[in-house]
Amino acid sequence: MIRVRNVSKSFNDQLVLNDVSLDIKSEEIFVVLGESGAGKSVLLKHLIGLLQPDSGTIQIDNEDITHLPESKLLKMRKKMGYLFQEGALYDFMTVFENIAFPLREHAHLDEKTIRQKVKDILKMIDLDEVEEKMPAQLSGGMKKRVALARAMILDSKILFCDEPTSGLDPIRSRDVSDLIRNVSRKFGCTTVITSHDIRNSFRVADRLALIHDGKIIAMGTQDELKASKDAFVKEFIS
Ligand SMILES: Nc1ncnc2c1ncn2[C@@H]1O[C@H](COP(=O)(O)OP(=O)(O)O)[C@@H](O)[C@H]1O
Ligand SMILES: [Mg+2]
Repeated sequence: MIRVRNVSKSFNDQLVLNDVSLDIKSEEIFVVLGESGAGKSVLLKHLIGLLQPDSGTIQIDNEDITHLPESKLLKMRKKMGYLFQEGALYDFMTVFENIAFPLREHAHLDEKTIRQKVKDILKMIDLDEVEEKMPAQLSGGMKKRVALARAMILDSKILFCDEPTSGLDPIRSRDVSDLIRNVSRKFGCTTVITSHDIRNSFRVADRLALIHDGKIIAMGTQDELKASKDAFVKEFIS
């Protein structure tokens, strides 16, 4: 459970988050919608503890993360998987080594167990026979799949995806969205996605929030958003 309470954040004189509050339930898929520059990534970075609010609090599983020392934050982040906008695979490592990397860094496992775990997740993510390829040999959609496999390899309980469909064509976007939903359900994790891709957001989300001018102006299920009378909400989702 993620609880955001009255979070405000400015950069220089620009108020980016203005008294934002929201609750994300365990095991739900929650999408933060908004135009480019609305503050989606900034909000996500607060949930990961990469940014601290000027005021307000963020709780994850009842622990206030806004004032945790870095050592505790690092420990907490091990329960989290991230799929960042750029995908950010290591270009100089094979797919296998990319996915095995978090295991080698954070788990103390023998080589055989590592191999098995990587194989299992590749299968789950429908990525057979690419283990020995380099990232440069993969399509954009495949890279996202590999990045997702790497994000989940430590059995993450929370998955963060920043604009997972940006830069992909409509078919790949749909595939990646469906994959995130399937993986999220299979692992039973809480998933937070930022997006400006309405169609796919409606496909994957249990609930959504729309940020505009630093505020959450709508929050709820797809049907609840569609029923909104607010002019900006109507325009954004139409
Ligand atoms: N580290 C930073 N320093 C200064 N301004 C920032 C920083 N991060 C984000 N911003 C500004 O905050 C606003 C929201 O950014 P962002 O959350 O990245 O938008 P988006 O909704 O597209 O993800 C933008 O105007 C951006 O320039
Ligand atoms: Mg962003």
